[in-house]
Amino acid sequence: MLLILLKIFLIWKKLLLSYAGAATLMYHRALGRTAIGPTNGSLTITDNRTRRSYQIPIVRNSVRATDFRQITAAQRGADVVDQVENGLLVVDKGYLNTACMESSITLIDGKRGYIQYRDTSIDELFRQNDYEEVIHLLIFGNLPTPQEKKAFRRSLAAEMKPHQTVVDVIRAFPREALSYTMVLAGLSAYASLDEGTRTTHEKGEPAFLGKPEAVDKAVVRSLSMLATVIALVYCHKRGREFTPARLDESYIGNILLMMGIVEPGTKTPNKKIENCFQRLWVLYADHEMTNSTAAFLHAASTLTDPVSCCVTGIVSAYGPLHGGAIDLAYHEFKRLGSPENVPSLIDSVKAKKQRLFGYGHRIYKVVDPRTKFIREMMEEFKEDVQGNPLLRVAMEIDRVAGEDPYFTSRNLKANADLYGCFLYTAMGFETDIILALTSLSRTAGVLAHWKEAMGQTPGLWRPQQIYTGNVTN
Ligand SMILES: *[C@@H]1O[C@H](CO)[C@@H](O)[C@H](O)[C@H]1NC(C)=O
Ligand SMILES: *[C@@H]1O[C@H](CO)[C@@H](O)[C@H](O)[C@H]1NC(C)=O
Ligand SMILES: *[C@@H]1O[C@H](CO)[C@@H](O)[C@H](O)[C@H]1NC(C)=O
Repeated sequence: MLLILLKIFLIWKKLLLSYAGAATLMYHRALGRTAIGPTNGSLTITDNRTRRSYQIPIVRNSVRATDFRQITAAQRGADVVDQVENGLLVVDKGYLNTACMESSITLIDGKRGYIQYRDTSIDELFRQNDYEEVIHLLIFGNLPTPQEKKAFRRSLAAEMKPHQTVVDVIRAFPREALSYTMVLAGLSAYASLDEGTRTTHEKGEPAFLGKPEAVDKAVVRSLSMLATVIALVYCHKRGREFTPARLDESYIGNILLMMGIVEPGTKTPNKKIENCFQRLWVLYADHEMTNSTAAFLHAASTLTDPVSCCVTGIVSAYGPLHGGAIDLAYHEFKRLGSPENVPSLIDSVKAKKQRLFGYGHRIYKVVDPRTKFIREMMEEFKEDVQGNPLLRVAMEIDRVAGEDPYFTSRNLKANADLYGCFLYTAMGFETDIILALTSLSRTAGVLAHWKEAMGQTPGLWRPQQIYTGNVTN
């Protein structure tokens, strides 16, 4: 009897060591090679339930949540619901202090107001590179050679196909329907035709994990599909003819072309708008782990296809606390109608009766570096900005918020997402399509994260919960 108990104990101990300890062991090995300092070291924890102490490795100023599993106070009488025997659980409702990926794509240093993609600062990219070059950098890790750029451009253009199913699905919507809902339906229609989606769901074999070639093709397909869907929605809402993409046009040029935004009387994309987007979109191409990127990756962790994940990403991007804030900000500008009404808005915000959507940002304590460039561009397109009644209201809010101590002391500046939208408005885009275009400009970055995830070890995301209800049985 005793022997059996001892055996059970040993097996239990072995199991415990293997699942919680493996990561720790690896970490200790890694630590052996690295200096103890401000970034690496260890955390000593004493569990006062058992008075046992633990050493948890700190690597890159972070600890592994799974390392906490070894901390257990398993004993008779422990609450079953709390699953004490599984070790300590880390609670982080809403990911407020949890990293869900390791990534080498984008660095944001909010304290100094600095952003870099791969190894190049956004300042340099904004000044020297266009959107196509930058998304090539994000996705493939290098700025393209002229040949690579040409090939990339052609492969994107070749996938901009307005399949009849997709066209029919979008046209089935009444024109006044929310463009967001049409974009989602259009994507689903695309998914129904996509080879990646079909392989994933019909054959049940991982079509992308560890398969860089399939991933690269799917990245291109997804970018082009979303662009085509948005252009189709734009045309349908306005009763316009859709113009097919051309192989020699740039990605942005083709988006404008498909939307019918061309130089008067020609079939070439509007130069001024193309030029504006080529630079503006560099600023938005990626913003590391945002809600929608995380939503996309969460779906992708099930190994589903990227077109389906785009649906998830877009849904999250449109929420009122995310990109949807832009729509709400615009509703407010419209409601106010003219700059004279701005003071009353400011008063009610200060009295906390109203929220100012589009102001403030979690990351930036100093200044969002992107705003500097957007301001530069607004200066360049000054006439268009000043000529627009909606923007006169927006600029007045911006002016007052920039001077009023209530806003300045709380660091409530218009965030770069909202600011950039002023350029869309200045270029003549209506609110219904702005958010779709902003999501499109971000999708390249999201797909770069997806590519990165598909090259790493598989891992289904496994969120957990703390059960707080009653136990009835
Ligand atoms: C911390 O440890 C990691 C992983 O071993 C290593 O890559 C990194 O260079 C270390 N950082 C410092 C500052 O020692
Ligand atoms: C936890 O244990 C440590 C070490 O025994 C002790 O110093 C500390 O006071 C304890 N804390 C509590 C809250 O019991
Ligand atoms: C989610 O999106 C909002 C709006 O863009 C942003 O302020 C917030 O910091 C994001 N949160 C995360 C975790 O990405």
